[in-house]
Amino acid sequence: MLACRNGHRFDTNRRGFASLLVGSRKLIGDSAAMLDARDLFLERGWYTELRDALSALVAAESPHRVIDIGCGTGYYLRGVLDAVSGRDSPGSPSARTTGVGALAMDLSAAAVARTVRAGLTDPNSTTNGLVADVWSALPIRDGAADAAINVFAPRNPAEFHRILAPGGLLAVVVPHPSHLQELRAAGLALDVHGNKTDDLVTSLASGFHLESTADLSRTLLLSPDDVAALIGMGPSSHHPSSADPADRAGSTEVTVAFRLLGFRRSNA
Ligand SMILES: C[S@@+](CC[C@H](N)C(=O)[O-])C[C@H]1O[C@@H](n2cnc3c(N)ncnc32)[C@H](O)[C@@H]1O
Repeated sequence: MLACRNGHRFDTNRRGFASLLVGSRKLIGDSAAMLDARDLFLERGWYTELRDALSALVAAESPHRVIDIGCGTGYYLRGVLDAVSGRDSPGSPSARTTGVGALAMDLSAAAVARTVRAGLTDPNSTTNGLVADVWSALPIRDGAADAAINVFAPRNPAEFHRILAPGGLLAVVVPHPSHLQELRAAGLALDVHGNKTDDLVTSLASGFHLESTADLSRTLLLSPDDVAALIGMGPSSHHPSSADPADRAGSTEVTVAFRLLGFRRSNA
């Protein structure tokens, strides 16, 4: 049971999360089919390098409370929690943080359920779930997190500032303009808009300063199934094109390119 200071009460459902969606706006988060495609693609390890870089950035903070905003399948949150607790390198003598509390937030109830379920097997952390719209006031306490991650997901700078503790880390991943360029040229993927670093830094400027930037880029050789999963897991799946990824014979070279940005929350 959750309660707020105005006396509202919300039950945590049997799947282990609460839905605090309010209002009548018609909102669509990722569907189960998109999450299946994302699981399939990510579990093949194509984005391991990105997950490792993000996890190392967050683990360096030794956070006790981590929020994933737009958690999707929870792939990145699991990597982060493993790195923070040292599960990813058990022999290493560096400091470990146990008893980490994580909050997986997404507009999609199916995404939150998946992420919470995957977290149940981790003895070193507890993952709670929250279904909410990032464009609304978030039902999360001021300063509730030491670190927040936001990977290919929408952002609300004012709310991110409010829910992070002073000095907390906000790790953001955005696609680079060259991301999936071959699939865009073939009419299979949408253009990347609104993720220019300058615009991102400007939008966060009143509450954060940019502390680190890392560019990661690779050319993958993908099977037709991988290409279909890559398209099916992203926004292009909402906009079917006349080109069918399944029609592609043999392997396809695809550029994947990301920018990982570390923002420090100001103390004010
Ligand atoms: C491209 S996916 C990224 C998921 C995950 N971070 C990853 O990289 O695997 C974007 C995610 O943001 C969620 N999302 C979209 N609009 C949202 C909103 N208004 N509020 C909260 N989450 C939203 C989607 O449901 C989806 O899970």
